[in-house]
Amino acid sequence: MRTIAVMNQKGGVGKTTSSVNLAAGLARQGRRVCLIDLDPQAHASLHLGVEVASGAHSIYQVFAGARGFNDICQMVGQNLWLAPSDLDLAATELELVDAQGREFILRTALQTAAAYEKFDYIIMDCPPSLGVLTINSLSSASEVFIPLQPHFFALQGLSKLFETTALVARRLNRNLKVTGIMLCLYETGTRLAGDVTDDLMMFLNGSDPHAPWAQAKVFQSRIRRNIKLAEAPSHGQSIFDYAAGSTGSQDYQNLVQEVIAAEAALSGGQTRAAA
Ligand SMILES: Nc1ncnc2c1ncn2[C@@H]1O[C@H](COP(=O)(O)OP(=O)(O)OP(=O)(O)O)[C@@H](O)[C@H]1O
Ligand SMILES: [Mg+2]
Repeated sequence: MRTIAVMNQKGGVGKTTSSVNLAAGLARQGRRVCLIDLDPQAHASLHLGVEVASGAHSIYQVFAGARGFNDICQMVGQNLWLAPSDLDLAATELELVDAQGREFILRTALQTAAAYEKFDYIIMDCPPSLGVLTINSLSSASEVFIPLQPHFFALQGLSKLFETTALVARRLNRNLKVTGIMLCLYETGTRLAGDVTDDLMMFLNGSDPHAPWAQAKVFQSRIRRNIKLAEAPSHGQSIFDYAAGSTGSQDYQNLVQEVIAAEAALSGGQTRAAA
């Protein structure tokens, strides 16, 4: 069982596109997957063709304490479930400002619903901020995947993300590790993309071996810029349903294979840690 927060406080870097297509791709490989949309923009929900009417069942109600996680989770395909979001979720930040234990609301809800046992993967699409929703995601997850658009400022933002993960790992969730960095919106053949990728590798290789990102792997699969990936959300379909033969579909398929390939190593590591 893997619980993955897809996080980057920078907007428009491929969090939602990656969360949705990773979730759909893993489900197609027979994994039971639950995608949790933690963004009030609800782009992941819309990408899978789900639009929640105001007041209807959504993850907002879980944060508001009005419903359990199982009540709001819906099946959207074979092996694929969605905890949808809607604009109401934008109020959560304010509503929880004084709430005790507000960092653990999602984790408790997932535990109560036995979600950690029911699914092979829980994938959480985080909003582009480091507020209470993202913190809830990090305190519920064991892994963080960071989508990165290789450009000049990408690494600056990355150190901030690493610091946040380290802080959450120290204070709220000792199991949390950054395990994957996904290069998204990749411009093949440009020098900048190659240079940023080299800098990133150097930065990771020089990291403190005890840091929560010490095991982070830059996925080999580069997610190239592909118009079909930008079109798929408006059709309410994953890239595999919308344009199976596209480069976008190939790139996410390769990513899915890499994620699956890490399963054995992870369960071996967990067994060792438990021993
Ligand atoms: N590889 C790609 N090729 C072409 N378009 C892409 C690709 N990846 C994402 N996009 C498009 O770029 C835009 C931003 O992507 P996405 O919504 O996944 O980013 P995000 O990090 O979730 O954004 P936000 O921070 O607003 O939540 C979207 O319109 C999406 O369709
Ligand atoms: Mg998004």
